[in-house]
Amino acid sequence: MSDEQLLEEARRVRQNAYAPYSQFRVGAAVLTKNGEIHSGANVENSSFGLTICAERVALYCAISQGERDLAKLALVSDREDPAIPCGACCQVLSEFNPDMEIVCANLEGLVKKFRLKELLPNSFKMKRR
Ligand code: THU
Repeated sequence: MSDEQLLEEARRVRQNAYAPYSQFRVGAAVLTKNGEIHSGANVENSSFGLTICAERVALYCAISQGERDLAKLALVSDREDPAIPCGACCQVLSEFNPDMEIVCANLEGLVKKFRLKELLPNSFKMKRR
């Protein structure tokens, strides 16, 4: 699965973003280690704090389908400098794979790549029971 294929899905799902307050539409697609894709867009709410980012929607879709082995996340936004996942999303993503590849792009095709560890080197962790 190429980065471009994953970005294409993020670009597609971005069109379904519900962002009437910010007008900032984001699409995300996660690639599982089995080669499956799960995607999501940001969903805002009039109670602003209830807004959820595209990355978490995509991740929660994957988890809900029983997919926990996540290799990569692609993120598409319409900004000169492609948006990177926010701190809250980095924390949530790092629960499943701190070494996940993060591919961020804008609509012009500028791509920036990171490892999740670079974006959040020290995530909060708790002992599992
Ligand atoms: N947003 C995302 O979906 N992902 C990001 O990485 C940054 C921010 C959304 C949340 C909100 O709907 C809008 O973008 C503005 O913050």
